[in-house]
Amino acid sequence: MPFPRYKVSIWLVVTVMLLAGCAGEQTALNPAGLQAKRIGSLFWIYTGIGTTVYVLIAIVLLVALYRRKRKSDTEPEKPDQRAERGLRSAVLVSIGVTVVILFVLVFLEYLTVRRIHAMPSDPLAIQVTGHRWWWEVQYETPIPSERVTTANEIHVPIGRPVQVKLISQDVNHSLWIPNLHGKKDLIPGHPTSQWFIASRPGTYYGQCAEFCGYQHAKMRLVVVAEPEEEFNDWYAGQLAPASPPLTPSQRRGQEVFLGATCVMCHRISGTPANGRLGPDLTHVASREMLASGAIPNTRGHLAGWIVDPQMIKPGALMPPNSLNPENLRALLDYLQTLK
Ligand code: CUA
Repeated sequence: MPFPRYKVSIWLVVTVMLLAGCAGEQTALNPAGLQAKRIGSLFWIYTGIGTTVYVLIAIVLLVALYRRKRKSDTEPEKPDQRAERGLRSAVLVSIGVTVVILFVLVFLEYLTVRRIHAMPSDPLAIQVTGHRWWWEVQYETPIPSERVTTANEIHVPIGRPVQVKLISQDVNHSLWIPNLHGKKDLIPGHPTSQWFIASRPGTYYGQCAEFCGYQHAKMRLVVVAEPEEEFNDWYAGQLAPASPPLTPSQRRGQEVFLGATCVMCHRISGTPANGRLGPDLTHVASREMLASGAIPNTRGHLAGWIVDPQMIKPGALMPPNSLNPENLRALLDYLQTLK
């Protein structure tokens, strides 16, 4: 019976859809760094060998079925000593080839893992702490006053090795920035690290890859890889204290912020707000996304987040805030100056 044509079409559609899914920005198949490239190469070697073996076996199976069918049509089956011996050798050779392929793949994996873990000297060290459900990012320098703290957004200079030190404050998380590296777990009380080099400028998205509770899917982060000079400018900007409020509305907004419960959890450098439970807001307006990638950083989304975070991210630690429209407008005016 011929293979129905509609089934061929379905398989074609499925294959095209799967390949299209791999073409997006956040993918391990579009490496933007040394580590991801090494992992990608290993993936293609595994895929290539696996596909070749699969196709060869399918061909042998089809040939055997065809020959058996032709034989059974013409003559009755009778044992043939020579054919039996030939078959036995073929099976033995196949087993040998399988074992060799297996060892080659294991060796290649060993080489890749060894290369991925060999830490280069003088990396840019960044401490990334997993919280339910956001990422705290701290740039480590020997001088404490030169340390930058931010959230859910990492900037790195291209071409320079970056060591990401990982720790969790609550449950297991896993950092995964597919364009730059593989996954690495963040385990409470067990600091680990990984390193990567971004080889071309771009914005790459990361994801928590270990189920960590209700909002696990809304625990994203952004990595911005940029030329050294742009990175230095960004770093200097982040190091500066928060811009002081200039207009009456911005001043009112700062009063609202400092007079509300915001200060218990958030820090804005240069003000009395020094909370450490939630993200540092000193330069919140400079970030691309809010609430760990749950919403874009626009005035409307920020307003929605302040008033009712539980609508956007149920279970997040931030409580709702009932502000009258005037105070909310002033607070937004102030927060949006924090570039
Ligand atoms: Cu953090 Cu999943």
